[in-house]
Amino acid sequence: MYKILAKTLILGKKVVFLPSCHSTNIEAVELTKSGPLFEGTLIITDNQTRGHGQRGNMWESEPGENLTFSLILKPDFLQAGHQFELTMVVSLGIIDYLNNLKAGFLVKWPNDIYFRDQKVCGILIQNSLKGTFIENSIIGVGLNVNQTRFIFPTATSLKTILGKRQELSIVLEEVCNAIEKRYLQLKSGETILLKRDYLTHLLGFREDRLYDDGEVFSGRIVDVQDNGQVEIERANGSQMYDFKEVKFIF
Ligand code: BTN
Repeated sequence: MYKILAKTLILGKKVVFLPSCHSTNIEAVELTKSGPLFEGTLIITDNQTRGHGQRGNMWESEPGENLTFSLILKPDFLQAGHQFELTMVVSLGIIDYLNNLKAGFLVKWPNDIYFRDQKVCGILIQNSLKGTFIENSIIGVGLNVNQTRFIFPTATSLKTILGKRQELSIVLEEVCNAIEKRYLQLKSGETILLKRDYLTHLLGFREDRLYDDGEVFSGRIVDVQDNGQVEIERANGSQMYDFKEVKFIF
């Protein structure tokens, strides 16, 4: 059970708690179809049975151990071509909160949250448009908090990183508060600051690393375009990649 968030202005002022559901993102999409909604509505479950991840993957989460939630935003000021700004907002909010607990969390482009070479949080954003503007943005967040065993060895949790269990309701409140601060920056047009902070916290930014775009190569991320494409400088020049076109090699 989760209460209305006290520290925020917009996020979590309306909370829909579902003891169990297939996917909070699906529930959120259904809610947006059912009539007008408060911006910031939070849909959260303790037991997500068919969580969706990126690239059609599933999202694994043990019941009652982690945060699995979706926020409904209404960034109707944002052109569809600028939707990557929401990715920056959400990734940075989560990173701000986590780096306050312990330094070293980074964003793996475009929006995975990593500590060293392990993933602690995944984000799935689904936008619907009205004309050329965004009408609803469903921000799905899966943050591994107290689970310590995962099917995928690349997954980790706050408990493993920090060495002790965390209170889910406190983590939820702080994470939403941090996302909201970044969202307010976007609303007041501070995209240059958001982009600068995003690059500062980007895994592999201006560092030589191995990537795979069908073949393994060494390169360094030098920029992320407004449309979200990553620019990687390699021996034969710079190349832009869309999501799914390039993988990190750890
Ligand atoms: C990823 O693959 O990294 C994205 C994972 C997103 C998981 C969250 S959990 C809450 C919300 N509901 C879903 O079905 N997915 C997102």
